[in-house]
Amino acid sequence: MPAPAMSGKAPERAAHRKCARGLFSNADNCRMLNPREIAGEKKQMKTGITCAIVGAVALMAHFALAQQPPERVLGLMKSVVVPASDVVFAVGKGAPKKESDWAAVENGASRLIDAGKTLATEGPATGGADWIRLANSMSQAAVVAGSAAKNRNVDAVLDAGDVLYTTCEDCHRQYMKK
Ligand code: HEC
Repeated sequence: MPAPAMSGKAPERAAHRKCARGLFSNADNCRMLNPREIAGEKKQMKTGITCAIVGAVALMAHFALAQQPPERVLGLMKSVVVPASDVVFAVGKGAPKKESDWAAVENGASRLIDAGKTLATEGPATGGADWIRLANSMSQAAVVAGSAAKNRNVDAVLDAGDVLYTTCEDCHRQYMKK
């Protein structure tokens, strides 16, 4: 079987992402961004498919908008989730040495636990079925990280940090604006 031609797909996808972000006001602009469309290659056959794709993307963008979480989420990320998780993740760069370093990790974990609880109440108006579960997973990973820090167990903090990171990714994949 011939290898799929990935090089042709990438700009196409990038264009569709831009369309989905609403950077272009109409579907024709979206289509123009596809270099193969501009070249006119297989134009007739592709037009129907492209229309279907553009339509589907527009529809997805519409749903994505309704599913966007409130703006407070971004504030919570910047002011608490990011700095608090940084302290936990930093254990991967170097084990805490002083008691105060360990205390900072414990504190970061406990701020994350609280942030997860707050986050659970800030889901999007629609399509938020997984939101609470994802926010709770973040809190739970933070609980494990916190008790690992309390036990001064570097490996256990790192393991919990890996789980924690996955919870960030899982939620962003599903709910972050594309
Ligand atoms: C329950 C869902 C959820 C979880 C869990 C979550 N996030 Fe987020 N995060 C979001 C959403 C939604 C946005 C986008 C908010 C927006 O743009 O309005 C976001 C945005 C961000 C941003 C972008 C901030 C910016 O300046 O644009 C960062 C960084 C971030 N999150 C880090 C994290 C980290 C680190 C974790 C885990 C420790 C995490 N998030 C866990 C939902 C989540």
